[in-house]
Order: sequence, then C-alpha cells, then structure tokens
Amino acid sequence: MKLKYIFSLIVFTVLSTKAEKPIYLDLNQPLEDRVEDALSRMTLKEKVNIIHAQSKFCSPGVQRLGIPELWTTDGPHGIRPEVLWDEWEQACWSNDSCVAFPALTCLAATWNPEMSALYGKSIGEEARYRKKSVILGPGVNIYRTPLNGRNFEYMGEDPYLAGEMVVPYIKGVQSNGVAACVKHYALNNQELNRHTTNVIVDDRTLYEIYLPAFKKAVIDGGAWSIMGAYNYYKDQHLCHNQYMLNDILKGEWGFDGAVISDWGGTHNTEEAITNGLDLEFGSWTNGLSNGRSNAYDNYYLADPYLKLIKEGKIGTKELDDKVRRVLRLIFRTEMNPCRPYGSLCSDEHYAAARKIAGEGIVLLKNKGNVLPIRSSMPTRILVVGENALKMMTVGGGSSSLKVQREISPLEGIRNCAGNNCEVRFVRGYVGDVTGEYNGVTTGQNLKDDRSPSELIAEAVREAKGVDYVIFVGGLNKSQHQDCEDSDRAGLELPYAQDDVIEALADANKNLIVVNISGNAVAMPWVKKVPAIVQAWFIGSEAGNAIADVIFGNVNPSGKLPFTFPVKLTDVAAHAVGEYPGLKRVNEDIWDEQYGEGILVGYRWHDTKNISPLFAFGHGLSYTTFAFGKIKSNRNAISGDEKVTFTVPVTNTGDVAGAEVVQLYISDPKCSVMRPAKELKGFAKVFLQPGETKEVSLEIGKDDLSYFDAGKHEWVVEPGEFKALVGSASDNIKSFATFKYN
Ligand code: BGC
Repeated sequence: MKLKYIFSLIVFTVLSTKAEKPIYLDLNQPLEDRVEDALSRMTLKEKVNIIHAQSKFCSPGVQRLGIPELWTTDGPHGIRPEVLWDEWEQACWSNDSCVAFPALTCLAATWNPEMSALYGKSIGEEARYRKKSVILGPGVNIYRTPLNGRNFEYMGEDPYLAGEMVVPYIKGVQSNGVAACVKHYALNNQELNRHTTNVIVDDRTLYEIYLPAFKKAVIDGGAWSIMGAYNYYKDQHLCHNQYMLNDILKGEWGFDGAVISDWGGTHNTEEAITNGLDLEFGSWTNGLSNGRSNAYDNYYLADPYLKLIKEGKIGTKELDDKVRRVLRLIFRTEMNPCRPYGSLCSDEHYAAARKIAGEGIVLLKNKGNVLPIRSSMPTRILVVGENALKMMTVGGGSSSLKVQREISPLEGIRNCAGNNCEVRFVRGYVGDVTGEYNGVTTGQNLKDDRSPSELIAEAVREAKGVDYVIFVGGLNKSQHQDCEDSDRAGLELPYAQDDVIEALADANKNLIVVNISGNAVAMPWVKKVPAIVQAWFIGSEAGNAIADVIFGNVNPSGKLPFTFPVKLTDVAAHAVGEYPGLKRVNEDIWDEQYGEGILVGYRWHDTKNISPLFAFGHGLSYTTFAFGKIKSNRNAISGDEKVTFTVPVTNTGDVAGAEVVQLYISDPKCSVMRPAKELKGFAKVFLQPGETKEVSLEIGKDDLSYFDAGKHEWVVEPGEFKALVGSASDNIKSFATFKYN
C-alpha cells in the first residue's frame, strides 16, 4: 500500500508541476471541465475501480492520475475508530479517540439551527483531522414508531423541523471540505426486518412526510453524497431504486453528488448499474461469508460490471455518469487544497458538545419547581440508577465510538454539586452490564448480583434520608433498546425500572427522573413524579450537561422533536400502520403499508384528538414566558407573496431563558384531508428577565400546499388558513386567519 502511495504522490507532483497542467488538476478551471478531463483520461478498468470499495471504508482513486482514495467514516455524532483494512475488528490505533457529540435527537431538540451549524462545523473538523472525506451522516429518517432502534440517530417526527435542522449541519461539515452523506434515503423507519421490508406508501405521504428533509438536505444544504437505505420500496432495494434515486433524487431535485450504498445494501449488478447507485460499499458477494477478506473484485459494481461491458451486454453511459459523480465528490473533498486542516478533541469541540447538549435537554415536568437544585444550600442528594454510571458512547451499532473521555451523569452531578452537597449513589436496578462494540470496550465493571428487591429496598432506605433523589435511567445502546439492527420490544422502560421509580416516589417527594433515551418511553408513574428531564444520549459531556440543567447553570430550553405517547396503540404506525409488516407467502419480504398516511406523530394525535403524554414541541424552562397576540402584515396573499406573522414574547420570570416560538398552519376547509395543524416556522428567542422581543416568521405558498398525487405537483387551494402560534403543539397561545387568493 505504502509503495502505491509514494508512486501516486510522485505522479501527482509531476503532473501538477508540469508547465501545462492537466485541466483536472487546475483549480482555476470549472469543476465540470475538470471532471470531464479526468474522465477522458481514465481506462475502463479505472472507471470500474473507482465506483466500489477497496476496503471496509475506503474506495480507490486513480493512482496513475494522482486521484486519491476516498475515505468514509461513521457518523453521525462522532468519528468512528479505525477498523482493520478488511475486517470489522479494531485497528487499535492510539490516536483515533474522538469527542462524542450529542445524538441527533438531542440536536433536533435544541430547535436552534445555530446549534446545527456549530455541530456540523465541529464534527467536520474532527473528520478532517482524522483524514476522512465523507461522514456517513446525518440521518433524517422520520420518527414513525417509538420502537425504531435507530431513532436516536435521526431528527424526529416532523419533516419541517428535520429539514431546517439538517441544512446547517451539512453546510458546517462541508465547510471543512468533508462531504456529508445524508442517510438512509429513504423510508427506512424501523430496524426490524430492515433488509426485507417493502414499504407501501402513497405518493402524497412520501412527498409530504418522508422526503422533505432529504430534499432540503440536497437542495438547500447542497449535500455532496447520500446513502441509500437497506429496505425496499416498490419491490426494489433502495440502494438501486429507479423511483427514488433516478426519478426523484437525480431527476426532480437535480442532485449532482454521489449515491453511496449502505454497507451490504447492494444486491444486483443490473439494477445497481441502471437504478442510480454510484458507489458500492460493504457488500459480501458471491456467497462469500459476511466480512470475508478481499471480496472487492466480486462486488456487484466490480468485475461483474466489467464483464457485462466487455461482453457488449451493456454500454458505458451509466458508468460515465457514476464516475463523474465520484470524481466530483473527490474533487470537492480530497482534492480540495483549500480545505482547513481540522482539529480533534479540542477544547472548542468539548464546549460545543456541552452547549448543544445543554440546549437540547428537555425539561418535561417540574411541579412545584423542584428543579433546579440550589447547590449553595447544604443539600443531601441520592443518585439512583444504572444509567448514572453507564457509558453510552459504546454500542448502538455503527454510530458506536471510542471517546477520549465521557463524563457520566454521576460524575457530572458530583462535579457540579459543590461543597455544600453530599452526593451518594445506589444502583436501584441492574440493566445490561456489558459494554462492547466491535472490539471497543467501556472498561466498566457494572456487575451487581443483588436481586431487584434487594436493590429497591436499599434505594428506598437511602431515599428516605435525603433532600433530593435523582433517578437516572431509561434505555441504553444494547440490542432491542436504542440500537441499530433491532427494534424495541415495547414502549415500557426495561429492567423493571418502573418499580424502582414508583418505590422512590413513595419514599421521597423530591424525586427527579432523568430519562436517557433516543425514543419515547411509557411513564405510568408520571403523576407521582414531580420533575422529569429528557436527557437523550449526549456523548462526551453527558454528565456535565445534565448537571448544568439540574443545578440551574443552564436554563433548559429544549423542546421535544417527537411525541411521547401514553401507550403504543396511540401511535398511528401501530394503530393503523401495519407495523412491522406482513410476510409474503414463500418469500422473505415483509410488505408494510404505511396506512396512517400523512398522519404521523402529532399530526395523528391532533387530528384524532388523542392526548399525548408529552406533546411534540413541549419543553419547560426555569422561567416563564408570556406571548402577546399574533399579528400579520397582511390579510391575504397570492402567487409567491409572503405573509409575515409577528408575536411579542416576554420573559416574565426572574432568570434569563429561551423560548421556542412555534408557528403551525391549519387549513380548515380543503378538498383533501389535512392534518389539524403542521409546523411551518419556528424561532428560538433568548430573553433576559423582563425583556420582550418580537419574533417574526414568514409564510408563503409552499407552507400552505399539499402534494396532489394525481397531478404530481404541490397544490395550494385558495381560501382561508389559520396561523397558530405557541410554545408547543399542544400549547397554542393565539392565532390569526389569512387568505390565499
Ligand atoms: C449502517 C450505516 C453505516 C454503515 C457503515 C450500516 O450498517 O446502516 O448507517 O453508515 O453501516 O458502518
């Protein structure tokens, strides 16, 4: 390998210092001219080589032409440690530890695009420093069921919120000369049967719910690559899917980047050639066993493709298109000499991780203002629960990380509590004491052989003598929890945590439950517990960020990016959506009709009047806010005109804080069914005590339209619309009506 490198470097240097530089090396030439020039110099074999992997995470460039390899990495909330060239095992480098940023559910919960920009810039810098050119992320699959083991990697249930939040992430990453690879395109809304589910969804639902965030990622974010999903749509795998890749992505949206297969998502040479795949990764072909070495020449887009061309069975039109896209990707990243050098594990990155986490943590309930704990007074605190100790950055699948450091909730609480506080810990429950992924281990010994009743008895005994009890529980990154390749078994908290919480609630009235998860969980004890904090998987600074909120150093301002239902049957995908699909007779394919259509998340709850446990957009603060009446600058618009809604928001409490002003649109009279309301604008506003700011949000035709499947276009019906402004989907403060003519 080393020799190859030196050779390509020499070629590169010779070519670039020659008096007449080839066009493809001349940065002053337009990108497309450079691409055409490079393409014209490549042999057939070189073209086929460049469109498939040569190792687990890298594809070859063209050594002869000085076009370098392309290195990809997971993604999406930290840079994955190095694995061996050809195996999933660790390469055991000593310099591949990273900062773990909060998982994307937490980022979405900030409802602050500035946090996305900071996130993208920071993680892009880490990728760049580690010499990676493509980050396999972010993910914007819509949260359809709380059982999806991978929801923690995505940005919630609302296409508008996910779309607004993903764009700055992509721009931030790509400002480092590192490509974002938006995934998993599309309709990959569960892990159960992820390779064998065939999604059946109507076009209106596809365009209104499942595609908008991807579309914004491509058109507004300018993503340089996108990853196909594992599952099927219209009986074709999504990594080579005529409708999704050729018709929509490359056709309707004009995507000029590269479609990268998910690892092992390619299944067929002919389809891969014609149906829009550009770069094949992670296949195990020709019956070779999972992970067998040097299978790369057998890849669907390797020798089998070359053979078809040589036999004259297929032309090279598709090949040239794929090569152009891969060249573009390499020129934009690896061959961009102007990109910065990046940085790894810097103080700035830790600060960014903590800030994003602090803005994303959601205060779900705070009866009697139990929180924040004032650490200036002598206070006895009991922390209970496995998740107060457990490292959450290892596990969960491909997003698993090797971190330089991770502060546990217990450590964070101890760090922050101050000398006046006495902090004790008891276990409360034993969940999953293992901690390993692909050879990275947490090194924690969490073994505890006591029985649940012994653990509860101890917790209750200790809880009786303290001022506050902080229970830190929830899910973890083990199989059937928040973890790739499996879904959860149910909505309930695992390991009988409900029993522990109930017992603690009886023992101490100042109980704070901190739920660590990327998914909604059932809370049968909700009425008995005065304070509940949704703390996500927040990475390296987890403990510090949680403690910041608990002790009031950070005033919480996160809002839920998805609904917490009371029970599973309140979720549309489970009530009417056919989750997890119906198996075909004699075929390993599960057809899953998304029968709920566009009524996903709060759209379902609001339209069907099903009260949630906690609504989409909900989140409390340590201060209070007053909303004035919504006003608009006009009563009617037509064509492409916009109407601006303005609402004054005042901080009426005595600490600084931030409120998210949410604007929903409702179309009460329409020839087609419309959800009760839909998010079409939001802004986070930071206010000092007593301060008032006017928040303005613009609405235009696009925000009023629905997708007419028959016409295959967006349609706005003239008539009256309602603009509803509030602090949560279930807390609308005022509304204004206006007309579209
Ligand atoms: C996952 C992708 C990931 C890839 C590479 C796949 O199993 O679905 O999200 O990027 O592996 O690790």
